Amino acid sequence: FISRFSAQRSPEEQPPTKTLRALKTLLLFSIILGLSLLLWGYVFQGCGPSPCKTSVCQDILDLYLASGNTSVAPCTDFFSFACGNINRTGSSFQALAEENRRRVRRILETPGSWHLAPGEEKAFGFYNSCMNTGAIEAAGAGPLRQVIEELGGWPISGNWTVSDFNQTLSLLMSQYGHFPFFRAYLQPLPTPPYLPVIQIDQPEFDVLLEQKQETNYAQILREYLNYLNRLVTLLGRDPSQVHDDASFFIFINSQLNQMLKSGEQQRAQGKVFKMVTIDQLQRVAPAIDWLSCLQATFAPMSLSPSYRVAVHDLEYLKNMSQLLEKQLLKHRDFLQSHMIFGLVRTLSPALDSQFQEAQRLLSQKVGELTGRPPMPVHPRWMMCVEKTEAFFEPTLAALFIQETFRPSTHSAVREGSSSADVPPPLPTQPIFSTLPFLMVSMLTQLQVKMGPSEWALKPDPARQEYDDVQLGPSFLQTFLSCIRSRQARVIQGFLQPFSSHRWQVPPWGLKASYSIPDNVMVFPAGLLQPPFFHPGYPRAVNFGAAGSIMARELLHIFDQLLLPGGCPACDTRALQKALLCLERLYAAFPSPRGTSFDVSRTLLEDAADAGALAIALKAYKKRLVLFRGETILPGLDLSPRQLFFRSYAQVMCRDPSTQDPQDIHSPPTLRVHGPLSDSPGFTRHFRCPQGALLNPSSRCQLW
Ligand SMILES: *[C@@H]1O[C@H](CO)[C@@H](O)[C@H](O)[C@H]1NC(C)=O
Ligand SMILES: *[C@@H]1O[C@H](CO)[C@@H](O)[C@H](O)[C@H]1NC(C)=O
Ligand SMILES: *[C@@H]1O[C@H](CO)[C@@H](O)[C@H](O)[C@H]1NC(C)=O
Ligand SMILES: *[C@@H]1O[C@H](CO)[C@@H](O)[C@H](O)[C@H]1NC(C)=O
Ligand SMILES: *[C@@H]1O[C@H](CO)[C@@H](O)[C@H](O)[C@H]1NC(C)=O
Repeated sequence: FISRFSAQRSPEEQPPTKTLRALKTLLLFSIILGLSLLLWGYVFQGCGPSPCKTSVCQDILDLYLASGNTSVAPCTDFFSFACGNINRTGSSFQALAEENRRRVRRILETPGSWHLAPGEEKAFGFYNSCMNTGAIEAAGAGPLRQVIEELGGWPISGNWTVSDFNQTLSLLMSQYGHFPFFRAYLQPLPTPPYLPVIQIDQPEFDVLLEQKQETNYAQILREYLNYLNRLVTLLGRDPSQVHDDASFFIFINSQLNQMLKSGEQQRAQGKVFKMVTIDQLQRVAPAIDWLSCLQATFAPMSLSPSYRVAVHDLEYLKNMSQLLEKQLLKHRDFLQSHMIFGLVRTLSPALDSQFQEAQRLLSQKVGELTGRPPMPVHPRWMMCVEKTEAFFEPTLAALFIQETFRPSTHSAVREGSSSADVPPPLPTQPIFSTLPFLMVSMLTQLQVKMGPSEWALKPDPARQEYDDVQLGPSFLQTFLSCIRSRQARVIQGFLQPFSSHRWQVPPWGLKASYSIPDNVMVFPAGLLQPPFFHPGYPRAVNFGAAGSIMARELLHIFDQLLLPGGCPACDTRALQKALLCLERLYAAFPSPRGTSFDVSRTLLEDAADAGALAIALKAYKKRLVLFRGETILPGLDLSPRQLFFRSYAQVMCRDPSTQDPQDIHSPPTLRVHGPLSDSPGFTRHFRCPQGALLNPSSRCQLW
């Protein structure tokens, strides 16, 4: 997109200072139109702000009262004012993500209230068998042992006869969704014509084995070994006899880990990848039979030695292959155990509670050793909802939209779509598909889509029948059947010429997604939910929360412009000056206790935060001019404009001590204080005195 953008205008035609301003106008329109469309049915009456007394307003009021500390002066510490009482683990996004999970759970636990196409009840059947812990416990490790036999057994069970390495690997990848040495998946290339190709990437490893720099690495390894021994015991073998297999698993994984590029190195390289033919790949990494493994995994695509795949790190594959070749000569049996150990971890969500307990114990022990919080233990329903979402996304997406976009929003949108004030949404029916309206901008043709995507609503018989999903006899078998069915559906989707798969985001997700090939930004329905958005909220709440989130995501499309040399059409010196100013502005705030961070790493996010607040505020003010009548929250002594800032901050609420030092975002205190102190509107509406922390003597106002 960026290249298309700059290709359209050369520095001569484009007056330097206008570029950023034009972008800002574009974003402003996107947000005003977007939120207006969602809010259409709610025309407010009267003049002065009237208190909103509905139950949705009561809920958000309760949230604000519970999370903030109103005895703190807003001009000194707005973060504590808004988030002072936030629970130690609660972040706004996490809370919304969990609420969306609960919404899906409600759907899955009331199957009778939905009209389902044939085949769709399999989604409910899957969820039920996931929740049927009685049956899962009763089956114990039996189903897993059976899977291991299907794979040709393993040395640990005593009667293993050497099987073909390539064949086992190909089975693991194609039938069990397990990728022990590298990952392979289908994804469109980021360059025109954006064809979907097979991509080969690094495998995903246990983070535990990456912690070489930890002082008690040896102890971590010992805990890991204990964990593997527990697995072996659960599979009915004596751990003392398989000590070498388990040690080998750890050895290989830590060797492979060392060959990986660190996150930092990857970022430095950007998303560089290389197109190579399968034949070339075979020569670079001969230990693996690439053609047969990939063919098995991606059938019915038809591959040949000259098929080109996108490889993300050729050096890793080469070194990995060398390691395997060396080990295959001496330790073929250990490698078999290696692959099975990895598979057991991949399948662990489908195994009985003793396997989960082993995993939990490992996480807890390593947490104690490293001082990091162990992985949170989620209730079973949450894991089951997550898996059902992944395997039956087409069905659940449609039900989620029906559940979350109530008839009020529904008709609000219908009215909006026939109004002359708003660009006509492209698809005119069914009704929900008008929500993701299309906005063709004069500048960039950027499309902004909101709520559910069309595909979630379009009746597509093929995607609603899960003919290939076999429920039973054990939950593990059901789980594996779903893995295969999903893989088949993904491949089928890519084989069709229809391109909307590129910007599919699950509607319960919170991540806005930008598709380069389609130039489309999608805000999923899951994000436009309380407490970030509700048609019945005061507009200040919607613009402060949902509006600023949308503005931030849109601004990120233009990140490139802020990088050195990224915007030849801009006034580079003025831009550098503004960025430096922003850096200083943030640096002036005290760093929250226990966190150290690097301003230059967070600069792009800081710029987006500051810009998002400014743009959302502007959009809100424009909206107020167009439509008078605004509500406020009773019992919260805030004017509509003050409420806007309060709502902005609520999105950021999070315990600052949970900040990851590698995070590219600033700590939450700064994400509130930085943008607010850069906003003259904030100072004005809260009447901050000269010299107050959030009323600095100079501002940057990059956007
Ligand atoms: C709220 O802020 C006041 C003033 O800073 C402080 O004394 C009080 O302890 C805070 N209350 C809570 C619950 O944190
Ligand atoms: C805060 O966390 C505790 C447990 O840590 C929980 O019992 C309590 O309900 C939480 N409070 C709120 C307001 O979420
Ligand atoms: C040996 O393999 C067969 C299948 O080939 C299996 O049925 C049997 O249980 C295995 N024996 C042991 C001791 O695991
Ligand atoms: C890969 O192997 C080569 C030669 O054996 C070595 O020089 C290089 O450092 C290795 N790369 C990584 C990332 O381990
Ligand atoms: C796997 O297949 C490749 C390509 O045919 C071959 O070079 C390699 O030796 C095979 N590996 C094993 C362990 O048989």
